[in-house]
Amino acid sequence: MNIGFCVFFAVFCSPILQIMNFQLTEEHKAVRQAARDFAKNELLPGVIERDEKMKFPAEQIKMLGELGFMGMMVDPKYGGSGMDTISYVLAMEEISKIDASVSVCMSVNNSLVCWGLEKYGNEDQKQKYLTQLASGQKIGAFLLSEPEAGSDATSQRTTAVDMGDHYILNGTKNWITNGNSASYYLVIAQTYPEKGHKGINALIVEKNSHGVMVGAKENKLGIRGSDTHSIMFQDVKVPKENRIGDDGFGFTFAMKVLAGGRIGIAAQALGIASGAYELALKYSKERKAFGTEISNHQAIAFKLADMATQIEAARLLVHKAAWTKDQGLDYTLSASMAKLFASDIAQFVTSEAVQIHGGYGYVKEFHVERLMRDAKITQIYEGTSEVQRIVISRTVLKG
Ligand code: CAA
Repeated sequence: MNIGFCVFFAVFCSPILQIMNFQLTEEHKAVRQAARDFAKNELLPGVIERDEKMKFPAEQIKMLGELGFMGMMVDPKYGGSGMDTISYVLAMEEISKIDASVSVCMSVNNSLVCWGLEKYGNEDQKQKYLTQLASGQKIGAFLLSEPEAGSDATSQRTTAVDMGDHYILNGTKNWITNGNSASYYLVIAQTYPEKGHKGINALIVEKNSHGVMVGAKENKLGIRGSDTHSIMFQDVKVPKENRIGDDGFGFTFAMKVLAGGRIGIAAQALGIASGAYELALKYSKERKAFGTEISNHQAIAFKLADMATQIEAARLLVHKAAWTKDQGLDYTLSASMAKLFASDIAQFVTSEAVQIHGGYGYVKEFHVERLMRDAKITQIYEGTSEVQRIVISRTVLKG
C-alpha cells in the first residue's frame, strides 16, 4: 500500500472511524449488566404493587445509591462514581425497562441535582451537600415548576428576598419529583422581579428548614411509585452561602441543568419503550392464534419491525446526546432532539406492545399497561415536547 495513503489514513481517517465507533467499551457493558441485574432482581419483584399502592421505592433507591448509581457522573472525591454520560444513559435505560418510578428519582438526583452542584456549586457546597447526594446517603430535588410557571419558566412567582446575609423564601412549587423523600432542594426563585429572568437565583434549601411544607402526594396516571408533591415555602430563611453561582444566575443555571436532565429523561423514555418491546417480542413467540405463534403473522411481525427500528433510532439519538456532552460540546440541541423523539416513540411502542398482548395487555400482571402509562410523562416533564420543539426550532433557524 502507498505510504502516503497510509499516513493520510492514519491521520485523517482513523479519528473519524473512532468517532463512528458504535461499540460499547467493556466498562460500559459492565455498567449496563449491573443495572440490568439490579432491575431484574431488586425492582421487578415489587413493581406492580408499588405502582398500585403509590409506594415510593425507598429501599431500592438506597441500594442504588450503595451501588453508585445515584451520582454516576460525579467525581469520586465528592462521593460519585466518576463515570461518563454514556454509562449513565445505559443504566437509565435498564432501570427504566422495569421501573420508571425508580429511574425518575435516579435521573433527577444525577442530572439535575448532582451535576448542577458539581458544575456550578462552590467547594463548600460540594463538601456539605454534593458528597451526601452523590453517594446516595441523601436524595435531592429540583424545584422550578410552579402553579403558573411550567413551560413559561421565566415567570417565577416564588420570591427570594435579599436580607443581607440571607434570603427569605416565599411561594409554592408544583409536581416536584422526590418532593418528600429529598433532604435537599435546589430552588429557583425570583429576587429582582424588575430584572425578569436575570433577577432569578438558585438556592440550596434544606427540607427540614423552618417554614418548608410538603403537600400531599400526587395521585398520578403513571410513575405512581415516584414521590411527587407540591412544596410550600413560608418565610424560609436561606443563608446567602447557599446561593449557587453569582447573583441572578438562577435561570441560566436551570436551563443548563435541564439540558443534561433531558438526556436522562430521553434515556428513560428509551428504556420504557425497549422494556415494552422485549415483553411483546417474547409474548409473540409464545402466544398461539390461528394454529401458530402470533409472531408468524405478518400483522404482528411488522409491528415488531417498526418498534425495533424506532427504538434503535431513539437509542442513536440518546447516545449521540450523551457522547456530545462527554466531548464537552454544546449538547442543548441533541438533548432536546433525543428527548422529543424518544418520548414520542415510547408512546408508540408501549401502545403497540399492549396491542400485541391483546386482552392480557390490558391487565396489570403483564406489565405493558404500566409501561404505557409511564411513557406519557416523558412527553411532559423536564420540558414538554412543545418546549423541545421551541429549543430545536430556535437553534435550527439560527442556522
Ligand atoms: N443554556 C443557557 N442559557 C439559556 C438556555 C440554555 N440551554 N436556554 C435559554 N437560556 C437563556 C437565554 O439565552 C436567555 O438569556 P439572555 O436573555 O441573557 O439571552 C434566557 O435564558 C431566557 O431564554 P428565552 O428568551 O429563550 O426564554 P423563553 O421565555 O422564551 O423560554 C424555554 C425558553 C425554552 C421555553 C424555557 O422557559 C424552558 O425550557 N421551559 C421549560 C421548563 C422545563 O423544562 N421545566 C421542567 C421542570 S423540572 C422537572 O420536570 C424535573 C422533574 O421533577 C422531573
